[in-house]
Amino acid sequence: MLLVTGVSGALGSLVAARLAGRADVVLGTRAADTADTAEASRAAGTAEASRAARAALPGTRRVDFDAPETLPEAFAGVDTLLLVSAGYGEDDTVAARHGAAISAAERAGVRHVVYTSLSGDGDHLAYALAHRWTERRLQRSTTLDWTILRNGLYAELLAGLAAPDAENRITGPLGEGRLAAVAREDLADVAVAVATDPAAHRNRVYELVGERPLGGAELAEALGATYAPGTLADARTAVAASGAVPFQVPMVASTYSAIAHGFLDGTGVESDLRALLGGREPLDALDVFVKAVREG
Ligand SMILES: NC(=O)c1ccc[n+]([C@@H]2O[C@H](COP(=O)([O-])OP(=O)(O)OC[C@H]3O[C@@H](n4cnc5c(N)ncnc54)[C@H](OP(=O)(O)O)[C@@H]3O)[C@@H](O)[C@H]2O)c1
Repeated sequence: MLLVTGVSGALGSLVAARLAGRADVVLGTRAADTADTAEASRAAGTAEASRAARAALPGTRRVDFDAPETLPEAFAGVDTLLLVSAGYGEDDTVAARHGAAISAAERAGVRHVVYTSLSGDGDHLAYALAHRWTERRLQRSTTLDWTILRNGLYAELLAGLAAPDAENRITGPLGEGRLAAVAREDLADVAVAVATDPAAHRNRVYELVGERPLGGAELAEALGATYAPGTLADARTAVAASGAVPFQVPMVASTYSAIAHGFLDGTGVESDLRALLGGREPLDALDVFVKAVREG
């Protein structure tokens, strides 16, 4: 049996929709059976897909890494765990979540954990440490097989970083840098392909970055906007003033900085994306970006 966690989230809901109707799949979410919680519905467009997927599947289990005492029941009978990273927190919070999930998987007799990590070129990002900690924890497990899906930054995330302002200017400090962004849909396809055939991907680390790096000028052109990048200091101030909690400020600032300074444009990365998509072309990240901006 395959258990997928985080199915109310944007990536998890896409995975769940692809697995709908399979009797050997169970969906895990903090919001099991109460899918209309504020957290689940926060995922707006994705919450509907997630609910539809849940309705089509026989089982939804409560999976909350912040409640480790519930995990033995959640993981009972599971052979493969697709552990969707539960980011958005300080390193100690995220590591504790993932550590609890992996320890519980070991105790429950799970054979294989597939983990959605962060691309190797993302090591300068403030949120890289918790991913690398989790990778190391899995690789040091004496009982688990594992596969690490090192997901590149989403094209949909770029829509948040480079949305035009009221004067139709993209002011995000991307400099002259570019991002080898990848569509969430593609990452969901890869996660499904790997998690439904884990033995073929045993103890492998896959880099999943896009093939076409996108820069501020190109993003602006696609939207009929202008590109007028501000400074990192401006962005940091704006994020802090937006009501973000403290860890979110370096998250955003380090993302701009890593893009602007050329660390995330895919140079030198041998991406496994196309191969794991069965040889098909990845979705066009620019199209995904434009659609995500227009949908707000
Ligand atoms: N590559 C990128 O560009 C990028 C961008 C943003 C985030 N990420 C990472 O990739 C993950 C998936 O991305 P996403 O777009 O699907 O993010 P998302 O929409 O924010 O979904 C994250 C999901 O993680 C689950 N989660 C959070 N806390 C949890 C906990 N304590 N126990 C169990 N599950 C928990 C939740 O699922 P339920 O509500 O169903 O419990 C939540 O909806 C994120 O969590 C983050 O680590 C990657």
